[in-house]
Amino acid sequence: MTTPSAFYLDCDTGIDDALALAYLLASPLASVVGIGTVSGNVSAAVGARNTLDLLELAGHAHIPVAVGAHHPLAGSFGGGAPWVHGENGIGEVSLAPAAASLAGESAAEMLVRLARTHAGSLKVLAIGPLTNIAEALRLEPALPSLVDSVTVMGGAALAPGNITPVAEANIWHDPEAAALVLAADWDVTLVPLDVTMASVLEEPHQQQLLASSGAVPRALGEMLGYYFRFYEGIYGRPCSAMHDPLAAALAVGAVRPALAPVVRAAVDTTSGPGRGQTVCDMRGLYAGYPPVAGARCRVVLSLEEDFAPHLVDTLLTLGEDAAVLDSTTAALASAGALTR
Ligand code: BDR
Ligand code: CA
Repeated sequence: MTTPSAFYLDCDTGIDDALALAYLLASPLASVVGIGTVSGNVSAAVGARNTLDLLELAGHAHIPVAVGAHHPLAGSFGGGAPWVHGENGIGEVSLAPAAASLAGESAAEMLVRLARTHAGSLKVLAIGPLTNIAEALRLEPALPSLVDSVTVMGGAALAPGNITPVAEANIWHDPEAAALVLAADWDVTLVPLDVTMASVLEEPHQQQLLASSGAVPRALGEMLGYYFRFYEGIYGRPCSAMHDPLAAALAVGAVRPALAPVVRAAVDTTSGPGRGQTVCDMRGLYAGYPPVAGARCRVVLSLEEDFAPHLVDTLLTLGEDAAVLDSTTAALASAGALTR
């Protein structure tokens, strides 16, 4: 049996963040050891409450959640995207308020602590603006040598942006942070709009979730109703892109890219029309992307298989017994049988 990898998740929960979190909880390849939130789809504080509530619903209330940066490195939080994710960030679905409280550290502090605890093996998955990751790099300049991998949902390599003609939301909301993260001394896997907009969840998938006996898949199915209404304006039918859960599945290694060249990438931090663009050097396109000296950004452009069936099948494993699972986990942990 494969040992699950330790994951730090940085998110702005968010409907598709909720899908990504649920996917990680369901995946046998991942063990989430900490979650930090950042302002993006909602404020970092609201994202943290959503995360705690989802964790409790899923029977994983033991996973620590830290509130991260409220404002980007430059400027201030713009109020989120209620027209995409709802006022509460999770499509106006009401979850029971979690009893668990927030960690007594910031998200950046949590990431640094976990990177030291799981030195060389921690996988970082960032599915919101990159402010916390940039702050962690400032707190611990050796962070790149401490983590195993960094996967970022963000950017647009050859595809158009979704906030401006060239900027994707997670990068747009903190270009200065994204620039620092892409320039740091580590290899980054970028999961941009090129591949996430081509990975679509349709109404029959939503129906499968709604018909589940599990509270988590059903809640996600309800959230998708809101998300589908937004994306209907983009695709012309009720459906949605799968940004964050796809990044999660790529990070755990459950889905394989068909095309993912390793290129040089930087972020435009000017105040002109290019602000927030991920400037990926895709000039190798015509030669089949030959290796580029010094390139460190693996840009996922396409997948070997359709992602939606795998996502739904994995989410449906989060069944009714989640609360029982958590009480078992808590009992084992208090008996010292589990270490984190
Ligand atoms: C990204 O922006 C957010 O709205 C989503 O949660 C995703 O992380 C897509 O551009
Ligand atoms: Ca997100």
